Amino acid sequence: MIYRKLLKPLLFALDAEQAHHLLMGVLSKSARIPGMQSLFHGLYATKTNEALRLERFGLTFAHPLGLAAGLDKNAEAVPAFSAIGFAFMEVGTLTPRPQAGNERPRLFRLPVDQALINRMGFNNVGASQAAATLAQSLPRTKYRNPLAINIGKNKTTANEQAVDDYRACVRELFAYGDFFVVNISSPNTPDLRNLQYGEELNRLLQEIKQEMYEQATAHRTDVKPILVKIAPDMSEAELKEVVATIVQSGVAGIIATNTTVSRDGLHHPHQKEMGGLSGVPVRQRSTEFIRLIYKWTNGELPIIGSGGIFDADDAYEKIRAGASLVEVYTGLVYRGPEMIGEIQRGLLKRMRQDGFTSIEQAIGADHRAEV
Ligand SMILES: Cc1cc2nc3c(=O)[nH]c(=O)nc-3n(C[C@H](O)[C@H](O)[C@H](O)COP(=O)(O)O)c2cc1C
Repeated sequence: MIYRKLLKPLLFALDAEQAHHLLMGVLSKSARIPGMQSLFHGLYATKTNEALRLERFGLTFAHPLGLAAGLDKNAEAVPAFSAIGFAFMEVGTLTPRPQAGNERPRLFRLPVDQALINRMGFNNVGASQAAATLAQSLPRTKYRNPLAINIGKNKTTANEQAVDDYRACVRELFAYGDFFVVNISSPNTPDLRNLQYGEELNRLLQEIKQEMYEQATAHRTDVKPILVKIAPDMSEAELKEVVATIVQSGVAGIIATNTTVSRDGLHHPHQKEMGGLSGVPVRQRSTEFIRLIYKWTNGELPIIGSGGIFDADDAYEKIRAGASLVEVYTGLVYRGPEMIGEIQRGLLKRMRQDGFTSIEQAIGADHRAEV
């Protein structure tokens, strides 16, 4: 109520990026005030239900819904986002060195299409600054749950040296992430998406795994799971090859998908803006990718579904197609944090209608129904 009726009209009256920074400032600063995390929790988090709890790659998730990368690029608001009821969140994309990103304006709303277009270009404070922020904030995060650190390469780093950037991010941030996401799918860093293919991807993942192993040894702890985030803009044959490489590399899972460069079916004049399109227009494609990946991997590779989730139906559709977990960005901008509880309640209702007693039974259920 508070977001949809009060906050959203105010934020939507501002430039999209201005609104974003305003909100992030409030969330990061207010969570330092004693009692605020509990207040946020009371306002938005719902009591979690055992039936939604699941384990993946050695981590426990209270329910399947998390916050996607790109909203908290600098890892400033982990206490606040954890308090409002997400089961996990990604911070980043972080790069080894700070970078300003592309020129503004670079974030656009397309309300008639329930979408956003962004060409932020990995604007972020850099891995070491983010590590310092997390060192401060994690100990005072009251509602701690799995934290993913999404990593990328600097714009000025050539693809041939990209492995060094990803390794540097793992080195710098190892202690703070519960799992890591290798972002090779942003459309806003020139040539980044070429890292998704063949030998280049294989080498990148092997090197990142090696760094993970070295860090785990140095910290006298276990390696942390690595997931790879892929783009929706590839053919079925290309996707098959990418998935085969990812499976072969032995990483823990896949995130499908990032934003799209397609502009099909849009109405808003901002459709002409360059960048990645998110929200409702990417929903179906991302679900198709999840369905294919689940089928090809016999449901054995955990998938996090991302793209156009606005309500419980959208989340449930991705889960039945094969996603173990799902995450939102654009939906949160349009629907507000109320959606977090609504989705949990809606998932329970749909599971009950389908005769499932746990979320595990719903994951990939479409594939079993087909047989
Ligand atoms: C403004 C904006 C910035 C984003 N930045 C990142 C990013 O830095 N790294 C990343 O992996 N994905 C990023 N994404 C993609 C989202 O994490 C998500 O995968 C995508 O938007 C599809 O989900 P959605 O339809 O729920 O937004 C960004 C999305 C938006 C809208």
